[in-house]
Amino acid sequence: MYLKKLLGVSTVLALLFVAGCGAAQKAKVVNESELGYSDRGTPPKVEYSKAAPGTAQKLPRSYENAPPLIPHSVDGLLPITLKNNACLGCHMPSVAQAMGATPMPPTHFKDFFFKTKEKLIKQGIYEDKAAYKARLAKLAKKEDIAPQRYNCSQCHVPQANAKPLVENTFRPDYRNPDAKHRSNLNETLMEGVQ
Ligand code: HEC
Ligand code: HEC
Repeated sequence: MYLKKLLGVSTVLALLFVAGCGAAQKAKVVNESELGYSDRGTPPKVEYSKAAPGTAQKLPRSYENAPPLIPHSVDGLLPITLKNNACLGCHMPSVAQAMGATPMPPTHFKDFFFKTKEKLIKQGIYEDKAAYKARLAKLAKKEDIAPQRYNCSQCHVPQANAKPLVENTFRPDYRNPDAKHRSNLNETLMEGVQ
């Protein structure tokens, strides 16, 4: 009786061991081509806002000083080209108030790369500041918007009603309640540096 029980236990242990080895050998490897939707047919349909600019509800910032999502339709506004940037027509600080749009913040008029460029100018690799500014101004009277900010849709995206594939448990912690709808990066930019 006792021996039988002992045999039984060892059989179970042996089986578990074999099963364990099997599992280790057959551990499922997910091929990179199986990641995402590529082999699962078309992704679920999502809808972008259809609200025309001026009729949309602004969305809270994802976190403090996150680039705000575009709440309105971008139909007919994209793509942004060198000759045509419809966004500027409503969001340039000089016109934004009249258009009821949020003005582009001061950070968008600072060329953070100019120090690097100045070095390149000295080496004759880059054209001088005045020529560079004149060329930009000529592009379409874009005041002095920093060139890195010209392509708005590189950072600002229209929100879609897409269901997250993986739940996001991140909850933003705004230090200032205004930060939910306004950015203040221009004032806090050097925080911790100076
Ligand atoms: C016809 C004027 C107009 C044009 C053109 C326009 N916008 Fe807007 N935009 C608005 C208005 C007005 C709002 C405020 C929400 C609303 O009423 O739709 C807004 C809101 C936004 C916001 C949210 C700001 C915030 O504080 O949450 C972003 C980002 C934005 N627009 C980006 C863009 C981009 C990028 C383009 C170009 C693809 C663009 N807009 C073109 C008028 C415009
Ligand atoms: C390189 C990324 C980037 C590009 C390109 C960019 N933005 Fe932004 N934008 C941001 C970020 C980040 C913020 C929030 C922090 C800040 O104020 O700089 C912001 C903030 C804004 C705001 C909110 C300002 C406020 O006071 O709350 C508006 C409006 C806006 N951008 C419009 C535009 C428009 C229009 C363009 C194109 C002409 C543009 N942005 C291009 C990153 C970008």
